[in-house]
This record gives sequence, structure tokens and C-alpha cells, in this order.
Amino acid sequence: MVKKFNIERGSKEPWPEEYKANREAVIREFKDLGIEIETAPELLERLIELKEDGHFDDAVRMAQIIDIIPKLAEEDKKKLKTAALIHDIGKTGGVHEKEGDKKLEDEERKLVRAIYTYKFPWGTGAMVANKGLELIDKKKYPQKDELLEFLKKEGIEIDEIKMSKLWREHVHDGYEILTDWRHDKITQEIINMAVSHHIVDGENPAQLTEAELAEKGVRAFSMISGYLLLTLVDKYEAFRTRGNKKHKEAIEELKKDVSHSKFLSPENKLLYLDTVDELDKLKDKLEKIVDGQARAA
Ligand SMILES: [Fe+2]
Ligand SMILES: [Fe+2]
Repeated sequence: MVKKFNIERGSKEPWPEEYKANREAVIREFKDLGIEIETAPELLERLIELKEDGHFDDAVRMAQIIDIIPKLAEEDKKKLKTAALIHDIGKTGGVHEKEGDKKLEDEERKLVRAIYTYKFPWGTGAMVANKGLELIDKKKYPQKDELLEFLKKEGIEIDEIKMSKLWREHVHDGYEILTDWRHDKITQEIINMAVSHHIVDGENPAQLTEAELAEKGVRAFSMISGYLLLTLVDKYEAFRTRGNKKHKEAIEELKKDVSHSKFLSPENKLLYLDTVDELDKLKDKLEKIVDGQARAA
């Protein structure tokens, strides 16, 4: 079922300059891949929000990393780069046009985004919700209980959930968003790649099997599947930029993550670790991208 457009901000003219610039930047990235993202306004609006929060810049860096991976066919590169650009779209909150469900209010959307932008890896979701409360309009939510009720409806049980788990909820929302508001150039395969970027941590919204994970999707470095590659690129980019780690440390962290994964089979773990070694060889080029010199070069 095609959902109707439920974000109204784009229809409010005149657009503020910053919004206009962000909108153009997002459109340009997709255009480079032969995709007119304007034809899926719900997706575009959400991506502009990610751009405002800096998450879209992470996605663009991931696409730049995919660009320098050797032995990747042009078509496959395009698929992976598209998946990278949309991979965190779930960080804008879930789909809210279900039967009997109300639209997500501006303040609620802001809160969801605040949750994903704040970093409390050691804490619980409750700590983050408290921080979010500081950022939103107090008049709207004078009662904390009301807000907690809203979060619960969002599937965020803040008292029970650990921050690391809360962070990963966005892939499930992403799956819903991307399948509800389809863009004809964003195929099911691309959607599956995009939303599987926390699969090493056990989050599997597309319900991929181990075999699919190993066999399907594009293959990069002539060995790893596109699904696993995207998780690796996402983690590497996050360790380097949000985590402030040096290249060597990021590579070590990646290896640790894989070794501790309860989801990957021993065969997939080996493939993944080999690919981390391949990524390590691209150190110089990767450093250029992370330092922001890739575009200028
Ligand atoms: Fe993510
Ligand atoms: Fe990400």
C-alpha cells in the first residue's frame, strides 16, 4: 500500500536559506547516481532532516569510501552507494500514517532525532529521553509521562532499553519507511542492503538468512557480500568520525565487533575479517576521505 505524504514542511514557502541549501545538497548526491529523489518527497524530506543533523554527511562519506573499493563493478557500486545514502533514514522516526495513528508532531520528530543525535553509549534510553526533553518545547509536553507514553508507542521502552540497543532501532523504522514510500530506482535489494547495516549486531529487519547474507547482493573485494560490506563501511565511518578514532584503532574495533558477533556464522566471520584487512590496505585513501579532502582531490 502506498502511504500518503505526511511531512508538510517542504510545502511551506518560502524556504529558509539553510533548508534550501540542504535540500539541494541531498538532491545532488542522488542525481550523481541517476536518481531523482524529488519524486519520493517523503524520503527527500527525511533525508534533508538527516542532513541538518549531520547524519547525511556520514552517509555521503560512506558512499565515498565505497567509491575507492577496488574490483567493484560500476553497477554494484551504484547499488551500494544508494544504500549508503539512505541507510540511516530510520533515524527520522517511524511511519505514522497507519490506521488510527496520528501524524508525528514537529516536537515529537525533534525528540526522535535528538535521541539519535545524542551520544550516551554507557547509559540507558531514559538518560537520552531526559536530554531530549531539554531540547524540545516544554509547553508541548509539560508532563513527562505523556512524552514517555509517546516514546513507548514509538517502540522505545526507555526504562528497559540500553542505549546501544536503542540506537539500532532505526533500522527497523528504516525498513518500514523505505518499503512504504517506494522510489522505483530504490529496489528491494538496495533497501535490504541499507537496512541490514547493523546485521553484525544482530539487527535483521529484512529477515535475511545467513546464506543470503553470504551469497546475494553484490560482492566486493571479490569475496564479501554487499550486505556485509555496508555494515563494515558504516562502522568504520562511525568509529573514525563520531568515535574520533584513528584508522588503526577503527580497524581493531571492527575486528573486535566481528569476533563478538552472535549473529554471523564462522564462515561469514572469516570473510568479514579478510575484508577488514583489505580495507586496512586502503588506509591513505580512507584518511583523505575522513579528513574531508576527498572532494577537493
Ligand atoms: Fe545506523
Ligand atoms: Fe550510519
